[in-house]
Amino acid sequence: MKSIVNLGTALHKLILATALTFALSPAAAQSVNEDAAIAVAKASGCFRCHNVDKAKKAPSYKRIAARYKGKDGETVLMKHLSGAQKVKVEDGGDEEHEPPQTKDKAELLNLVRWILSRE
Ligand code: HEC
Repeated sequence: MKSIVNLGTALHKLILATALTFALSPAAAQSVNEDAAIAVAKASGCFRCHNVDKAKKAPSYKRIAARYKGKDGETVLMKHLSGAQKVKVEDGGDEEHEPPQTKDKAELLNLVRWILSRE
């Protein structure tokens, strides 16, 4: 009998923790296809400069997500990633920021949402 009670408590905790996770990260409420986002980022060479949680030549996606917390990051990043621009890399040089290798707006939006939900 005791084990059944414990199982109930554990389940209850799990459900609470899951609910909390979603409540605390609004971006997670939007469906993001993580595999698709990573596939586009990999194919486009984004990870040459970006890491998810550590700074490399470029700020981590976690830091970028934090930068846009509470702001309309989607609009800004859709624009940022729709064309090539010059960016300053960590070692001080200028490099061309190539847009992702996709012509599909939905794929691009999925990538943007994935980045914004990294924090
Ligand atoms: C040559 C290195 C390099 C590559 C490759 C690269 N980035 Fe960046 N990226 C940077 C640097 C440097 C910055 C920092 C600019 C800044 O601080 O605003 C940046 C900034 C960004 C930002 C934040 C822009 C903003 O306005 O806040 C996003 C989002 C981003 N990159 C996504 C990508 C994606 C997606 C790819 C792959 C298609 C990619 N990057 C490839 C170097 C790179």
